Amino acid sequence: MAKSNLIIRNVKIATPLGTEAARGEAMGRIHHVDDALIVIVDGIIEYAGEAAGCPAELTAREDCQTLDAGGRLAVPGFVDSHTHLIFGGYRPDEFSWRLKGDSYMSIMERGGGIQSTVNATRTADADTLADKAAWFIRRMSEMGVTTVEAKSGYGLDEATERRQLETIARLNARDDSPLEIVATFLGAHAVPKEYKGRTSEYVDLIISQMLPAFKGMARFCDIFCEKNVFEIEDSRRLLRAAREMGYELKLHADEIVTLGGAELAAELKATSADHLLHVSDEGVRRMAEAGVVATLLPLTAFALKEPFAPARKFIEAGTAVALATDLNPGSCFSGSIPLTIALACIHMGMTVEETLTALTLNGAAAVGLANSTGSLEKGKRGDVAILEFDNLNYLPYYVGMNCVRQTIHDGRIVADNS
Ligand code: NIG
Ligand code: FE
Repeated sequence: MAKSNLIIRNVKIATPLGTEAARGEAMGRIHHVDDALIVIVDGIIEYAGEAAGCPAELTAREDCQTLDAGGRLAVPGFVDSHTHLIFGGYRPDEFSWRLKGDSYMSIMERGGGIQSTVNATRTADADTLADKAAWFIRRMSEMGVTTVEAKSGYGLDEATERRQLETIARLNARDDSPLEIVATFLGAHAVPKEYKGRTSEYVDLIISQMLPAFKGMARFCDIFCEKNVFEIEDSRRLLRAAREMGYELKLHADEIVTLGGAELAAELKATSADHLLHVSDEGVRRMAEAGVVATLLPLTAFALKEPFAPARKFIEAGTAVALATDLNPGSCFSGSIPLTIALACIHMGMTVEETLTALTLNGAAAVGLANSTGSLEKGKRGDVAILEFDNLNYLPYYVGMNCVRQTIHDGRIVADNS
């Protein structure tokens, strides 16, 4: 992937700092520089700080493109650490059924929901999947996203799960890719119709065939740990096997009912537990203790008309909270970073500083990349979102609207909304 040299002048900076997740009250600590300069060499930040303090040999470089930010604010490129980006078909009818009172789980139990996207994904060829994902990726890039996690999970058979993971690799290999995709294997997203009533046998198949087959193609292994889907025992069995094979772990936990997914994530020292709308107080406490990132997905709660996850409880317990979109064709057909910010600040009681940390450094930690992206400091990737405005408070204030003017990935301007 092309990496560039870029000097951003006449810019302000607001960024969390560090190479690991910020936990609890540390999430509110944002480093501000008013008269700043950012120098990116070969895709990596060489300098981000006071313009006056920048070494002359960097400012004098003639091989750098220059961007005058006009006094605007630069923040780290956003990390959307939970999406289901690769899928066939759409499910608009289900959404309208839900508007009339149908529930997400009852649609799924009738053979719709995830299974309906599985049917469409199994028949979609690789080009169709890639072209469709690329369209969503361009929209993400316009909203400042420079890293995105993408899950498989709409194949539920080896050939289709592989096609989804190969699509991710193909998109990453494109020279003009505007962001980095981190792959997650989610073969345990639902029990496929061929295995109806035989959940344990399907878990056996994943453990014996799919996990070994996809080693190296996905960094993470995830599971929909939910009542009547994969309950605690099957989840524990599958995730332990995945960890032994070298996968890092994620869980869809306590999304629909309180099941103990958060406690399991803590027990297994998963990298993140996600959703957590119905997490128990004990689950919050154990996740904080175990250092599991709580990835909260407010767009899903909003679209399902469910209560928002208890962000304040997590932060007060000393947990690292990340925010992500959950973009998928079912529970949450939205990848809106602006609406995520608005819901976090207006409905979940998060401050704008905590929200920024959750979408940058902590999102990076949730995908195992906090040492290379998620903040504006020397040594990190040149991943930057320049806002139209000069102050962080515009992020929630411009409600549900895109504040991003330019997105920079590896030192390249990859989206320009100016
Ligand atoms: O994160 N809950 C499980 N998985 C997704 C929804 C997938 C779908 O409905 O297609 C979620 O909400
Ligand atoms: Fe999800």
